[in-house]
Amino acid sequence: MQPFAQRLLDWFDRNGRHDLPWQHPRTPYRVWVSEIMLQQTRVETVIPYFERFTASFPDVQSLAAAPVDDVLALWAGLGYYARARNLHRCARTIVEDHNGHFPRERVALEALPGIGRSTAAAIVAQAHDAPEAILDGNAKRVLARHAAVDGWPGSTASQKTLWREAEARTPASRCADYTQAIMDLGALVCTRSRPDCAACPVAVDCGARLQERTAELPHPRPK
Ligand code: ADE
Repeated sequence: MQPFAQRLLDWFDRNGRHDLPWQHPRTPYRVWVSEIMLQQTRVETVIPYFERFTASFPDVQSLAAAPVDDVLALWAGLGYYARARNLHRCARTIVEDHNGHFPRERVALEALPGIGRSTAAAIVAQAHDAPEAILDGNAKRVLARHAAVDGWPGSTASQKTLWREAEARTPASRCADYTQAIMDLGALVCTRSRPDCAACPVAVDCGARLQERTAELPHPRPK
């Protein structure tokens, strides 16, 4: 059997999303803006906001120079406005402290406001093909099922297991595609309530499927 990552990449080549606006061109700035918008918002909703935002602010310099109210006006309707304020703060930090260059290291990105480990990893993986593991909501669901991880994915113990699984599966090459592939698999096939196991490239060795527990995993937050 091919490794997990290879099966996912083969699936992605045929069935993944290859024409998202932040993929063309895939610059660190555009990837960063998209990942912040996608933190709590679906792809279809984000697309028109992303297009307007990057048309007004094509680079980190124009964003840093803008009044925060102009940034918030372009965010109106997307919600979670702290994201916009943090994005603007980050832009100013990058211009003032990093010479306008995006940090290329995950750990340096994590030091910026509003960027956690998974977002930082998603940015460097997509922008620089860096072999960093992500663990967003989609990846969590895929991994919790495939590795049959019990417990609520938000718990400390499950987080630890899931990060270990995420790291162990991340390939050394094609990391940008792999990152998009695992998110696409979660969004398009391994959905929360109606996973399409017949279409899944990693179903043969999926723990949840073999144990007939796809409906049960990942476990919901305990009440
Ligand atoms: N969620 C977060 N980042 C994403 C991306 N690049 N594609 C799809 N969903 C995402």
